[in-house]
Amino acid sequence: MKARELMDLAPVIPVIVVNDVSTAIPLAEALVAGGLPVLEVTLRTPVAMDAMRAMQSVKGAVVGVGTALNGNDLKAAKEAGAKFAVSPGFTEELGSTATDIGLPLLPGIANSADIMRAHAQGFNELKFFPASQAGGPSMLKALGGPFVDAVFCPTGGVSLNNAHDYLSLPNVICVGGSWVAPKDKIDAGDWAGVEAVAREAANLPR
Ligand code: 3PG
Repeated sequence: MKARELMDLAPVIPVIVVNDVSTAIPLAEALVAGGLPVLEVTLRTPVAMDAMRAMQSVKGAVVGVGTALNGNDLKAAKEAGAKFAVSPGFTEELGSTATDIGLPLLPGIANSADIMRAHAQGFNELKFFPASQAGGPSMLKALGGPFVDAVFCPTGGVSLNNAHDYLSLPNVICVGGSWVAPKDKIDAGDWAGVEAVAREAANLPR
């Protein structure tokens, strides 16, 4: 699956932090049942890679990693079965490694220079991060002027309340956010609650 196909699957990509690997499967089941099949497991906790691996057994889930910081992260993710990777920023090393190993990468960008460097390596599907701090919807509207081929997944400060401001832009395909995998509900094992939050997000128009 190419990056664009992943972005088309649902309006929201959950940004997931897993602290306890036993929560990985029920969490993934709840998100998929709610209509969010693309799952970004951030490489921020010691159990992240195991959690990402476990989630692959959930029917319908398309599981990848987030917070990929370098080529080694991409190689380890690919080895562990990741279908895609997301990075907070763009480096040439990330771009060339992703291309070499055939792992779809959604690299982070925050300005025109980032977009131009990513573009030079063939990346047009980009994560706009941190979206609200880097200029929000009006920044994406402005970037749409010169960068007609670039499409974005804004992430960072996105919520149910402001997702529409992004999703209504022609160069936004989906948004990313942690609000659909809330820590309190995960800690409480409230999978019905997670599913309900996911369903609201999955129904966002775009
Ligand atoms: C990320 O961790 O990639 C994003 O910062 C998630 O941002 P959010 O917690 O504001 O959704």
